[in-house]
Amino acid sequence: GATMCIGMGMSLAAQAEMIIGFSQIGSESGWRTSETASIKAEAEKRGIDLKFSDAQQKQENQIKAVRSFIAQGVDGILLAPVVETGWDQVLKEAKDAGIPVVLIDRGVDADPSLYLTKVASDFVEEGALAGAWLAAKTSGNCDVVELQGTVGSSAAIDRKEGFGNVISNFPNMKILRSQSGDFTRSGGKEVMESFLKAENGGKNICALYAHNDDMALGAVQAIKEAGLEPGKDILIVSIDGVPDIFKAMADGETNASIELNPHLGAPAFDAIKASMDGKEVPKWIKANGPLYLPDTAAEEYKKRSGK
Ligand code: AHR
Repeated sequence: GATMCIGMGMSLAAQAEMIIGFSQIGSESGWRTSETASIKAEAEKRGIDLKFSDAQQKQENQIKAVRSFIAQGVDGILLAPVVETGWDQVLKEAKDAGIPVVLIDRGVDADPSLYLTKVASDFVEEGALAGAWLAAKTSGNCDVVELQGTVGSSAAIDRKEGFGNVISNFPNMKILRSQSGDFTRSGGKEVMESFLKAENGGKNICALYAHNDDMALGAVQAIKEAGLEPGKDILIVSIDGVPDIFKAMADGETNASIELNPHLGAPAFDAIKASMDGKEVPKWIKANGPLYLPDTAAEEYKKRSGK
């Protein structure tokens, strides 16, 4: 009994004194903003001293932030890698300093021994789910335009792959055009405008697959301005499940969204704590969400927005 009390007391104190660096990508989307808020709140709840750094979408800023966390001797680092490649050197520096790195939300193309774990959704599966929904909805007959996420990001690469894998099984489904809108609303609107112009004012387009909700919402504006009805003339499937997409679905302007869980702080902090306690941590802690449809959208919007 006495030993157990001492043990528990020590681990609580250890957590309270934990200093964690968090290199975040930026604030490109509604989802990203919720994720940042959720991780900050979780750190506060646990009494963790969180050193937050916003990279403004630049990998070089993230590398600088990680190096500065190492120099400060933090207990652990959360890294949301903007792109997949180019991390080996800095991850090796953290490893050599004995600081565990948890990849948050996106993955890297590096040796898994260089990081503790990845807390993220399976983006290939999300893309496949979007493709399967669209194939069912259109009975396998659909010409699609695709708004990709940030070039070189695991989220964009894998969401493209998963969707492509599924629709390749349907001879009458194809991607007419595919371009990056950088995960932003303005990017989505601008690229959709160019798709509409290039495809007979939009008349050739059956559906839009957007790698995130923000780009889909930007595209909704572009489609309306072109005189077409989003969600009817052009079907729209996207990913994230932000409050605004539920509003759009309830209004009949988009047709499906796959939820990406933004609450990644708790499993990430738990993993660092577990590794400090000498426990084994799995290399990938998955956080996949369901596909939502318009039938429950009004109710979901209420829950998420308090309106
Ligand atoms: O990495 C996840 C993606 O990044 C989200 O789907 C998108 O909204 C964000 O910008």
